[in-house]
Amino acid sequence: MTVHERTQVGIVGAGPAGLLLSHLLALGGIDSVCVENRSRAYCEARQRAGMLESTTVDLLRAVGLGIRLDAEGLPHNGIYLQFDGERHRLDFRELTGGRQLMIYAQTEIVKDLIAARIAAGAALEFEVSDTSVAGFDSGRPVLRYTDARGERHEVRCDAIAGCDGFHGITRPSIPAGGLTMLAERSYPYAWLGILAAAPPSTDEVIYCRHDNGFALHSMRTPEVGRLYLQVPADEDINNWPDDRIWAELATRFALPSWALTSGPVLQKSITPMRSFVAAPMRHGRLFLAGDAAHIVPPTGAKGLNLAVADVTALATALVRLLRDGDPSLAAAYSDYCLERVWRSTHLSWWMTSMLHITPGQDQFESRLQLAQLRHLVTSKSAATMLAETYTGYAPLHYDPTTHLDAPALWGSTSAA
Ligand code: PHB
Repeated sequence: MTVHERTQVGIVGAGPAGLLLSHLLALGGIDSVCVENRSRAYCEARQRAGMLESTTVDLLRAVGLGIRLDAEGLPHNGIYLQFDGERHRLDFRELTGGRQLMIYAQTEIVKDLIAARIAAGAALEFEVSDTSVAGFDSGRPVLRYTDARGERHEVRCDAIAGCDGFHGITRPSIPAGGLTMLAERSYPYAWLGILAAAPPSTDEVIYCRHDNGFALHSMRTPEVGRLYLQVPADEDINNWPDDRIWAELATRFALPSWALTSGPVLQKSITPMRSFVAAPMRHGRLFLAGDAAHIVPPTGAKGLNLAVADVTALATALVRLLRDGDPSLAAAYSDYCLERVWRSTHLSWWMTSMLHITPGQDQFESRLQLAQLRHLVTSKSAATMLAETYTGYAPLHYDPTTHLDAPALWGSTSAA
């Protein structure tokens, strides 16, 4: 038997994008049903990003999600760039007139959002199966799924949000010809990431270019480090016992009078590096957000921040469409998001290319990388460009009561 239901927005995916969208819509008086094929425990433990732009932090605070973030997040004022045996600090806060980054893991944002949605009595279903979406060209699209107890649901919606990641079902549900651009780049290397019970050996994140390959020292808490090593694209994780990981990290980060503290490896995994952008991010009443529409390589930490920016815009557009019957923001949604997406895609591609060693790389490429890095640490304008792009673009506002039009609400993402 199928249960027939009705909601305003059907949300596929309970990662940060889907959960935050459901939270923002509720603040605007719009109801939603959010479905996720994984378990709650899986979503809350899935290790992903951890570096939040100042714009993301401000938005989360403004919508009531700042309490644990401010209590437990680690504010960062800049980054270190290491190359040629030297480590240089870039003070992003000074370069941007006060913007501050925050280390607060995606797992924690997801926990905060799930707790907030459950406390608000939201329709949030984990461990669903056979999810499908259809009818985007009508005003009444439909979301179908089987819940964890085996009951089939058919939910009539006014709009559907695809927040189900790169491998999700919503983007492939768009009929042929509906996506007019699919731009993709895979990089010939991957990241081996570890979570370690080792206090970070640095106060701020270190991006390191070494002839053996890139390394990144990040952190999650004052007791837990998050570190990454560039490895070959098809690397087998079994080639990397913990001792080898720590030895290679120590080699790449080595500096006189500095030591890397090691500790038990709590988790390790290999992440492929890819850029991907699908456009437009809307097909009729289906709206894509976050990784369902675009992915970036992790260098520069843009993925989660982009997802937050997408759903902030989408929530405003859907409130306007469904509450006021005004489709203009929904029509502008894709172009507005894509400007930021391409800027972030550029930053991620640029930082990736500058810091990684391509297999077979010659002297010419190596010298160009070093020249670019040297420029960043010696020119204030070069450093400012990185600082502005890294810390965020124009502020993200969520104001469900606004009646501003798209140009007034969403001028260029560059505008401060
Ligand atoms: C992380 O903390 O996981 C992180 C930080 C900066 C990056 C990528 C990942 O560029």
